[in-house]
Amino acid sequence: MKLLKANNYHEMSKKAAEVILNQLKEKPNSVLGLATGGTVLGTYECLVEDYKKNHTSYQHVQTFNLDEYTGMSRTDSHSYHYYMNENFFKHIDIPTDHIHIPNGLGKDLIGECQNYEDKITEYGGIDLQLLGIGQNGHIGFNEPGTSFDIKTHVVTLTESTRKANARYFESISSVPTQAITMGIGTIRKSKHILLLASGKEKALILQQLFNDVIDEIVPASVLKMHSNVTIIADEEALSLLDDEKVKVLLT
Ligand code: F6R
Repeated sequence: MKLLKANNYHEMSKKAAEVILNQLKEKPNSVLGLATGGTVLGTYECLVEDYKKNHTSYQHVQTFNLDEYTGMSRTDSHSYHYYMNENFFKHIDIPTDHIHIPNGLGKDLIGECQNYEDKITEYGGIDLQLLGIGQNGHIGFNEPGTSFDIKTHVVTLTESTRKANARYFESISSVPTQAITMGIGTIRKSKHILLLASGKEKALILQQLFNDVIDEIVPASVLKMHSNVTIIADEEALSLLDDEKVKVLLT
């Protein structure tokens, strides 16, 4: 895993946007895997800023989002469809039929998961997957204990994830209990993975991520088995790693 250190959230976001823009320069028809949440919001802001200034085109890009709540309308302001549209898609020139986000509304959710997986394969797999990380080590909505081989599936959210996401809702009881998520087996097939972490809330999990253990109890530890992972973390997120370790990781 390659580590890039940022001084703060803003610098992390700028560096992440640079990685994405370089990917698009190299391959204008890239397949991007995208995430939602607080960590990646600044990255989308930087990409939108770049679009306004440099007109980087998304005409040939396909995007696949990691996850979506079940039973929530796309226009619900808590849905990941809404988040992506408001924070990114409506500001760039991506054709709407190039945007793929799991549909958590259908009757056949298992069929939807299979279709989603098939569609990713059809487009040749994900070139660059953007990830945040949960305080419990989750990636996508793959909670601790999830098999490293699982593909896109319906998941019941843990109490700790619902609590962490309650900040976006009126109360924890309004946070959905289920979601569709790309599986760890789906995520790890991506050619390049870009994981971002910011803030002291992520310091403990980053400390665990940089030890030698690979275990399904820490879903993100699967990334240590991948040959092309870039982690961009800010000072607060790296605050529990000793300086020597960070120095080694940065070289
Ligand atoms: C979002 C996702 C989640 C988040 C993670 C971190 O699509 O799949 O795994 O990346 O929960 O969320 P934030 O960035 O809000 O701390």
